Amino acid sequence: MQNRKSYYITTPIYYPSDNLHIGHAYTTVAGDCMARFKRMQGYDVFYLTGTDEHGQKIEKVALEKGEKPLAYVDEIVENIRSLWDTLLITHNDFIRTTESRHKEVVQKIFQKVYDQGDIFISQYEGWYCTPCETFFTQRQLTDGNCPDCGREVERLKEESYFFNMAKYANRLLEHIEKHPEFIQPESRRNEVINFIKMGLEDLCVSRTTFSWGVPVPFNQKHVVYVWFDALINYLSAIGYASDNEKFERYWPANVHLIGKDILRFHAIIWPIMLMAVGLPLPRQIFGHGWIMLEGGKMSKSKGNVVDPIILVDKYGVDAVRYYLIKELSFGQDGLYSEEMLVNRINSDLANDLGNLISRTTAMITRYFDGKLPEPEDSQPVDLELQNLASQVYQGATAKLENLDFSAYLITVMKLVSRCNKYIDETEPWLLAKEESKKNRLATVMYNLAEAIRIILILLAPAMPTLPERANRQIEVFDNPGQINWEDAGRWGLVRSGATVKKGEILFPRIDLKTLEEEPLMEDSKTKTDKLEKEKAVPPQPEYISIEDFARVDLRVAEVIACEKMEKADKLLVLRVRLGEEERTVVSGIAKNYKPEELIGKKVVLVANLKPTKLRGTLSQGMILAASDPDDKDIEVLTLDRIAPGNRVK
Ligand code: MSP
Repeated sequence: MQNRKSYYITTPIYYPSDNLHIGHAYTTVAGDCMARFKRMQGYDVFYLTGTDEHGQKIEKVALEKGEKPLAYVDEIVENIRSLWDTLLITHNDFIRTTESRHKEVVQKIFQKVYDQGDIFISQYEGWYCTPCETFFTQRQLTDGNCPDCGREVERLKEESYFFNMAKYANRLLEHIEKHPEFIQPESRRNEVINFIKMGLEDLCVSRTTFSWGVPVPFNQKHVVYVWFDALINYLSAIGYASDNEKFERYWPANVHLIGKDILRFHAIIWPIMLMAVGLPLPRQIFGHGWIMLEGGKMSKSKGNVVDPIILVDKYGVDAVRYYLIKELSFGQDGLYSEEMLVNRINSDLANDLGNLISRTTAMITRYFDGKLPEPEDSQPVDLELQNLASQVYQGATAKLENLDFSAYLITVMKLVSRCNKYIDETEPWLLAKEESKKNRLATVMYNLAEAIRIILILLAPAMPTLPERANRQIEVFDNPGQINWEDAGRWGLVRSGATVKKGEILFPRIDLKTLEEEPLMEDSKTKTDKLEKEKAVPPQPEYISIEDFARVDLRVAEVIACEKMEKADKLLVLRVRLGEEERTVVSGIAKNYKPEELIGKKVVLVANLKPTKLRGTLSQGMILAASDPDDKDIEVLTLDRIAPGNRVK
């Protein structure tokens, strides 16, 4: 493990003031996608998430509920952990700021920065916004309210400790300018540069008006400002000042994933804190956009909070993760609606991906008895598919490296569409009709299985249960739990002879009507896609096995007597002989045959059909006949040479 390159990625630590919603899940799912991708590439990944549990806001909520802050957050933290389990988040650690391993590091760092003179005591008078845990000057307020959330602010006057940020401002500017990748996306970088250039004020880093926090080590009347406390989680979780080996292994972090609203804390305060401690800066801070609803932001008070657990319950974890990763261009805000989610699942997953896998599986099962055949020589269309697979592999890798999550999935889905087109172009159902084209059919089937193997690898970071589920139908991996990213960059790895069999529908189509009281129309593109797919693979007959057929006992029977049934102009009553045995059979062929025409003929009898009474006569079997579509012309099957009683098979 020590020889592998490390990759350290973090999410913000969430406030456990309430259960989390789909917006929080967004960052964590994106981070998980990245962590899985890097692990598949062979990196020693450390993916960190956790909870930010101190501060006046949490203290207030707990008091309102009549609970102690820790007891209150304990319960929510459990819900958060179980949310991450449900979303199959593979974090390596979950840090809580109330843990002593964290509090000790906060105190150490506060002490160190104080000892070197960058933190000092002074009087503070200003406006405080409790929900944002931030002080503002009179000038910064908007109409007398918090400039960030618009809520009321309180006038606070207190003795506080201050952190001299201005001392490090130029060094930070230089760093940002020298490392264009440090703050991403680009637009956020400019916002930060402008803010620093306006001049940095001393930051108030302690509070005396409440006690729910980490005590300042040398003055117990004060607790450390919640942001100063929280940011340090990125160090305390990897053993700063307690496990040097681990710390050296993972620091500096490769990327802090955050929402745009907490950019300044991460791109200004945090780097300056690190400079003061004497540590290298993280390589990247990525500020993503927000998931919005049509009515604006999600909020408890509006009652429009989307619970990811309910969505996973309804649509499955792979589909919800796919949607979150694909739908928003990572740097920008995006709209969420359940209808958009369902459309995305139906068009990309049910129609394109699910259909590709089920068509390929059905064809290999039908044409090659469920064993993947060996490929033969390639044709230009095969090479085109192969080249596209290689381009998609490179494209998807590059997009993920740049945290361009949506573009990554768009790229992979191009290969899915190309495969569906490849089926239409190669027309396997026509190849299957001619024995001489069996080799060509084998190559087409092999190429499809190979492209599916590549697609499954590329989708694994986003949809972790997919490779295993698909592999149960089309066994493209020996061990779907252990797949390497690089294997998606190579063609020809899938094993001929691999087992293929029909299985569960991977992504069932969801009926939009079930979502809304007002039935919604299927959008026209989805509809055309669906029709096209249906055209591409002709409807498959319901097959029966040879054993099923063998259950029908067909016998040669000689007609020894025949007469019209009384008062029934369509029916004849036949007496037939099967070897030693004789039977009576009623047959609806009176319009096409005179009784005497049939006597002496050898016909085919379904001998084990359950006897039934027709117009009072017991019919002991059925004779076979072919007919035209409206049953006008009927012709009884007859034989010449084989003796009565023998089997027809
Ligand atoms: N506790 C701080 C972070 C401290 S990190 C040292 C915090 N917590 S939070 O719970 O309020 O928010 C955590 C993250 O969730 C932020 O990155 C925020 O941007 C993100 N989101 C909250 N709502 C969101 C959406 N609707 N959409 C996308 N992300 C959203 O801030």
